[in-house]
Amino acid sequence: MLEKVTDPEKTERQAGQDKPEIHVDIERSAEPEKYRAKREGVFKLEQVSVDYNGALAVSEVSMDVWRNHITALIGPSGCGKSTLIRSFNRMNDLIPAANVEGRILYHGQDLYGDDIDPVEVRKRIGMVFQKPNPFPKSIYDNIAFGPRVLGMEGDMDETVEKALTGAALWDEVKDRLDSNAFGMSGGQQQRLCIARCLAVEPDVILMDEPCSALDPISTGKIEDLMLELKNDYSIVIVTHNMQQAARVSDLTAFLIVELDADEKHRFGRLVEYDETEKIFTNPSDKRTEDYVTGKVG
Ligand SMILES: Nc1ncnc2c1ncn2[C@@H]1O[C@H](COP(=O)(O)OP(=O)(O)O)[C@@H](O)[C@H]1O
Ligand SMILES: [Mg+2]
Repeated sequence: MLEKVTDPEKTERQAGQDKPEIHVDIERSAEPEKYRAKREGVFKLEQVSVDYNGALAVSEVSMDVWRNHITALIGPSGCGKSTLIRSFNRMNDLIPAANVEGRILYHGQDLYGDDIDPVEVRKRIGMVFQKPNPFPKSIYDNIAFGPRVLGMEGDMDETVEKALTGAALWDEVKDRLDSNAFGMSGGQQQRLCIARCLAVEPDVILMDEPCSALDPISTGKIEDLMLELKNDYSIVIVTHNMQQAARVSDLTAFLIVELDADEKHRFGRLVEYDETEKIFTNPSDKRTEDYVTGKVG
């Protein structure tokens, strides 16, 4: 069983209804050690490799993901970003060819342990995809779907309002909750998908290029929303947009595509993982520098 993760501060805030301020920790870059000591782990990846029918897609990634932080995964197409993020909530289980090696600890528990229920994992660790994928149902039923399936207790109207408010969508849709979600704009549909995640009270939200199908205004709204959501959730985002990683994330992991010894097979590897500011202004690895300065794509 996964233990329920509780956040006393979050409960207190919700009880008091006072909206938390967006947390921008300027001190962070000045005193990383001090900041790091305050960080609380959500995921610990130990030598995680994923292959598809034996063909390595991403090799030996080790990294920590911190609570109430936004962690970005960047790197060229095919370096295994989607593969890696899918391993964070066992979404790879749904791809028969995929095989995950190494270890992922989630709040200290082995995420792939025998006693862990993958359905419970995907409830706790929600996912938003590149293309918004609402159900062909009303806005209300899209949100109510998860809580109903999971038999969650409580007033459904309240649950729906809370999730839509949390995804910065309530004011736009409160008068048309019964209309079909397909009638919404792309940006609204993506916020609906985020609201659908929130409705089942997750701990982590994974986002795989959530803005790549959206216009700049909708993208800006999702980015603002992410900064808001990190007060209550931990977020991992894959993005091919480096400006986006620089704007929203606290930490950035840069992956590359490498060729194996016989130069036949390509696989992804983690080059550098650090504070976003460091990755973009003073990276430790030349390959990171070439990528973030646009010398190589
Ligand atoms: N479902 C799958 N079945 C087989 N191979 C896959 C599958 N998904 C991804 N791959 C392969 O894994 C590698 C990494 O892909 P992916 O994780 O999608 O990279 P990225 O998201 O960084 O573009 C690629 O070589 C890709 O062809
Ligand atoms: Mg991808």
